[in-house]
Amino acid sequence: MLLGFDIGGTKCAVVLGRERGDSLEIVDKIAMPTVQPPYAMIEKLFVTADELLAKHHLTNAGLQGIGISCGGPLSSKKGLILSPPNLPGWDNIPIVKMTTERFGRNALLQNDANACAVAEWKYGAGKGYENVIFLTFGTGMGAGLILNGKLYSGTSDFAGEVGHLRLSDMGPVGFGKAGSFEGWCSGGGIAQLAQIKVREKLQVGEKVSFCTGMDELSQLTAKTVAEAAYLGDETAIDIYNTCAEYLGRGLSLLIDILNPEVIIMGSIYGRAKSLLDEWMMQVIHRESYVGAHEVCRIVPAGLGESIGDMAALSLAVMSGE
Ligand code: BGC
Ligand code: NA
Repeated sequence: MLLGFDIGGTKCAVVLGRERGDSLEIVDKIAMPTVQPPYAMIEKLFVTADELLAKHHLTNAGLQGIGISCGGPLSSKKGLILSPPNLPGWDNIPIVKMTTERFGRNALLQNDANACAVAEWKYGAGKGYENVIFLTFGTGMGAGLILNGKLYSGTSDFAGEVGHLRLSDMGPVGFGKAGSFEGWCSGGGIAQLAQIKVREKLQVGEKVSFCTGMDELSQLTAKTVAEAAYLGDETAIDIYNTCAEYLGRGLSLLIDILNPEVIIMGSIYGRAKSLLDEWMMQVIHRESYVGAHEVCRIVPAGLGESIGDMAALSLAVMSGE
């Protein structure tokens, strides 16, 4: 049996799974909101893992490997979570040491985007390709890179920290930087952009279908804006067009630098694909080399909602190798 921990800025999960021929089967899973402080959250994850193992009549000895998928920056080599922008307070956490001591089994820590890239490449939309980029496009914006048929994580595990790239001088804040890729293209970034655009409308007395007053601004989310856009609300459509512009710019940089065969995007892209595609593709055609973009497919995650679970389990497989 494989044990996986998926640690995200909004939620965490403990997953049990096993290999079935060429695929992975999710046997059981418990998800929970991410709470502070980190050590309490980690203890909660460990206790949940104990419960899941007991429920399935397993002991630690029955574990083939353990995977820990977490938002970066982190050091896979040192087994440390460094200080992820979406996990405030998680500074220098020796998660691998804690996990191996607790369960007596090898554990592998990897950046969540890297883990998702591996999962999509082995079991999802990246199957059969050599050069795959996976973008999380959820709470945060991170990339996982499969290059020449191998995970590329860089000299100090910082490869793919693309959310940190600055795409414009001003704009929504991500990674503490205005106008960064994560600022423009993430759940929090879309909410910030919505607040700015909706405030402008309300100030001049215009009506916005999905936000009736200034007191509701702080409740805007990428999801509520997408729902309004699907219903034809012009402000909401404008917000997603702006996001698509910067998504296109970010993708163009990646396409020009890495010349991938496929770019796979999770989370928000899966839900808002038809709101983003047209504008995003126009930007890519405008910004990147034709020889690079004409060979690159852009698709949503093939593993859909189970991608986070499959990512953690994929690491568990690798930890036992
Ligand atoms: C982190 C990345 C991570 C992404 C998604 C970003 O803020 O820097 O490492 O992959 O969020 O969680
Ligand atoms: Na990464």
